[in-house]
Parts: sequence; C-alpha cells; structure tokens
Amino acid sequence: MADPAMHVKLLDSRILFLGAPGSGKGTQCKHLKAELGLPHLSTGDILRQGIAEGKPACLQAKSYIDSGNLVPDDLITVIFKERLVLPDCSRGFILDGFPRTLPQAESLGAMLKELRLPLKCVFYLVVDDQLIIERTTGRLGCINPKCGAVYHIKNAPPQVDGICDICGGELKQRDDDNADIVAERLKVYKEQTAPLIKYYKEQGMLQEINGARSQEEVYADIINGLRSCVATGGR
Ligand code: AP5
Ligand code: MG
Repeated sequence: MADPAMHVKLLDSRILFLGAPGSGKGTQCKHLKAELGLPHLSTGDILRQGIAEGKPACLQAKSYIDSGNLVPDDLITVIFKERLVLPDCSRGFILDGFPRTLPQAESLGAMLKELRLPLKCVFYLVVDDQLIIERTTGRLGCINPKCGAVYHIKNAPPQVDGICDICGGELKQRDDDNADIVAERLKVYKEQTAPLIKYYKEQGMLQEINGARSQEEVYADIINGLRSCVATGGR
C-alpha cells in the first residue's frame, strides 16, 4: 500500500462483511487479512473447523448447517464471543458471517461496546441470485485448516485438479454447497440476514460494493472504501 501512514491506520480497522452465501465475503476477507494482517473471524469456518475437531458446541450446530439453516442465536453468539475476546482482536478484525440476525447484531454491538472496540465500516457485497448459485455450487476449498484457500472450478481453478496451489492440500466441495441447500441458505439469508443491511445503513456505516465483478475489482473498491472510512473516523 503506497501511503505508510494510511497503512498504519488501516491496521486498526474493525470491519464487517455482509452479503448472501457465495457473494465473495470469504474471498475478500482473505485478501484483506493477507494485506493488513488482521484476524479474519468467519463463523462458518470456525464452525466447520470445530466440527472437524469434535468440539461439542460446534457439533450441536452441525444439523443446522447441513440443512442450510442458521445456528440458534444463543449458541452461535457464545462460539463467536470466545473468538472475539482473544488478544489478536484487540486492535482490529474482519468479521465474516456474524452477525446474521438482528438479535446477533444487537449482541455484537453490546460486546464491542464492552470491549471499547466499535465497528468502523460495514461492506455489503451485492451479487444476484443466479451468480450466487453458480459461485457456491462451483466452489472448492482447501481442507487444510491452516490454509483454507478458496477456489472455483471455472472462475478460479487450481493449477492441478483437486490440489491446493498454496499448500498442496486436498480440495473439496462443502457439504452445504449443493443446489438444494444453497436455495435454502439463500431463502434464510433474505428472511433473516438481509434486514441487517437497513440496520447498518441507518447507523451510517454501510458501503455497498458491486460484488459481481472480478475479485481484483471488488477488492480495489473495498480498499478505497476502507481508506475513506478510516479517513473520516469510521463513519
Ligand atoms: P458460511 O460459511 O459463512 O457461509 P455463507 O454465508 O453462506 O457464505 P459462503 O461462505 O458460502 O460464501 P462467501 O460469501 O464467503 O463466498 P466465497 O468468498 O467463498 O456459513 C455456513 C453456515 O454456518 C450457515 O449456513 C449457517 O448454518 C452457519 N452459520 C455461520 N455463521 C452463522 C451465524 N452468525 N448465525 C447462525 N448460523 C451461522 O465465494 C464463493 C465462490 O465464488 C468461491 O468459489 C470463490 O472462488 C468464487 N468467487 C468469489 N468472488 C468471486 C468473484 N469476484 N468473481 C468470481 N468468482 C468469485
Ligand atoms: Mg465464506
């Protein structure tokens, strides 16, 4: 990043991504994490990793994830808070997938108030339903939890079929990325998560980003949005 003073300010960013399943939240968060070194808190990734490790709270969430539904607010809020209070979040963080309901947004507000770490910017990645279905059903992810790189069979294929370019790990499709479950996730998103767009818009924090372009174009808009948000003190 060209301006070192701005880079330092960006390191304190507290950012939230909103968007439908497959809108590119995880992809963009990974780019931001690599550039700014901020922790990326993806509740979906936390749950999938916890299930793989046999953590009881995450195992309780499995049936909800597999059916495309949301994990109950109480359960996901406890799981999320355990991660948020770790020391690496004390300066900045990138939230992906929490909050996903109005009660979760209110819990997040209370947690951040208590920690004195208010959110600075909220990015909403706008992508239409047809593209969402193409992206999710074609997604492949690295099963190595330390890597977790995301690919797409057409848009972002690995160099060697089934193998992660970065760590050599195996690439797999997520269990909840089949067309029927994606349709359910999209329905749940519209009913329960889309109201957060208005919630954060009313707080003057929301920036809409056209997510239906190349990863590079989307990322460039996010960086510009982040710069203006940081320059104006977060609002
Ligand atoms: P989660 O894992 O968060 O899934 P999601 O929100 O449905 O979002 P995705 O991860 O599917 O999409 P994404 O926006 O990250 O897209 P990506 O960058 O990978 O949650 C899973 C489940 O956990 C939920 O259904 C729920 O059950 C539970 N859960 C999680 N949090 C919860 C909460 N707070 N409350 C209750 N339950 C909760 O991109 C998708 C694909 O598109 C990739 O293949 C990628 O390569 C490609 N792509 C990305 N950007 C572009 C681009 N610009 N151009 C072309 N292709 C692109
Ligand atoms: Mg994701």
